[in-house]
Amino acid sequence: KLKIVTIGGGSSYTPELMEGYIKRKDQLNIGKIVLVDIPEGEEKLNIVGAMAKRMVKAAGLDWEVELTLDRFEALKNADFVTTQFRVGLLDARVKDERIPLSHGVLGQETNGAGGMFKAFRTIPVIGQIIDDMRVQCPDAWLIDFTNPAGIVTEAAIKHFGWEKTIGLCNVPINHVTTVAEKLGVEKEDLHFRFAGLNHFHWHRVWDKDGNEITDKVIELLYGQEDAESDLKNIHDASFHVEQLRDLKMLPCGYHRYYYIEDEMLQHSIEEFKGGKTRAQVVKETEKRLFELYKDPALDYKPEELTQRGGTHYSDAACEIIASIVNNKGTQMVVSTRNNGTITDLPYDCIVEVSATIDSRGANPENWGAFMPAARGMIQLMKAMEETVIRAAIDGDYNAALHAFTINPLVPGGKLAKRILDELLYAHKKHLPQF
Ligand code: NAD
Ligand code: G6P
Ligand code: MN
Ligand code: MN
Repeated sequence: KLKIVTIGGGSSYTPELMEGYIKRKDQLNIGKIVLVDIPEGEEKLNIVGAMAKRMVKAAGLDWEVELTLDRFEALKNADFVTTQFRVGLLDARVKDERIPLSHGVLGQETNGAGGMFKAFRTIPVIGQIIDDMRVQCPDAWLIDFTNPAGIVTEAAIKHFGWEKTIGLCNVPINHVTTVAEKLGVEKEDLHFRFAGLNHFHWHRVWDKDGNEITDKVIELLYGQEDAESDLKNIHDASFHVEQLRDLKMLPCGYHRYYYIEDEMLQHSIEEFKGGKTRAQVVKETEKRLFELYKDPALDYKPEELTQRGGTHYSDAACEIIASIVNNKGTQMVVSTRNNGTITDLPYDCIVEVSATIDSRGANPENWGAFMPAARGMIQLMKAMEETVIRAAIDGDYNAALHAFTINPLVPGGKLAKRILDELLYAHKKHLPQF
């Protein structure tokens, strides 16, 4: 029977996961699910853990759900380890967002200065988790949901040597759903190919007869001014459709920060001034969610959880596990080794691409080369990610400043150094390597 361990089990997303396992109960012979957290998260773990137990019971299943603060013990003989932790909790995210914005520079969870700092805090912890796994569960798969998921996956595979790591994001699934809804067809009647990096990928679409309809979908989604974002956490400013017509690929929601940078920055600064950056909004949502989870009668995922940007996470996480266990060959979008899939990027780097998932893990589908305008950006982004990882592992200030300097969302020069120094000071407690 399967043992699945989730690090960061106190997350408000845990009911998503439980729902996903329950939906796939016929494909997953689960014995035990262990939710692991740290003392700061114990109260949340107890509340959402009790809720998880109720969900399992309501589904009539005999799965054991265990709650613990002892990660090392928890990992013993695990088959799958999934991660959804946030080092420094939402207070750290508030700093990632507000400190850059206080200087008029974008502050965001996974992009720009904030995203780089989330990586600096997270990479040492993923290294420790892998150290524990080497001893306790040397054959386990590591499914990483912890952001910045692409960078964390690259650190896990390339630097800590855990080959059986797959990075996960809910954005591609949301894009697929949006396109199908807009076209008024079933998802199954469309074919998608995604390629790029986590939160920096593009996609193309084909209809069921094999005709490419990307151009049509660009017009449908972005041809008019009031285009919506399909993610709750991203302001839905409109892309310039003329540029997308030239791109001939659909952007991901996060491309707004790069393609229409001024508008997104302006909106973020307004949120900052109003005391309502995303982390501050999420804190409120989280409070409401945990009030709901406390209700001993609640034994299903509440609608309110769709207010979080990570909604539909379970479709990705649980389907990956089911596909590996049952050698299903499902097509999914994951962060995995490039292996030549995107010819513009280093052979061994981590990319986020369409892949089939079977008992060997992720088998990426060949993509080829990007047009120069996309190639240039993605090569810079990957170089920035590699520099971030180097800085995170060695606690290397010089590399950190270099990453800030080349990150497109941080203006180089005095301001970059000032923001870097302020963030290093603010996050000192969670950056022992620096
Ligand atoms: P959260 O702030 O609720 O944190 C989740 C839990 O992690 C908390 O209970 C916390 O106590 C715990 N934690 C912190 N440090 C830990 C450690 N060292 N070991 C074990 N547990 C620890 O976070 P959240 O908003 O639920 O998000 C969880 C994570 O998932 C974040 O990293 C977030 O960025 C990520 N996320 C990813 C996607 C995606 O598309 N990949 C989508 C949504 C969220
Ligand atoms: C999206 C992204 C996640 C990100 C989340 C933020 O779904 O895929 O990687 O963490 O949104 O959502 P939140 O509700 O925390 O702002
Ligand atoms: Mn994501
Ligand atoms: Mn820069």
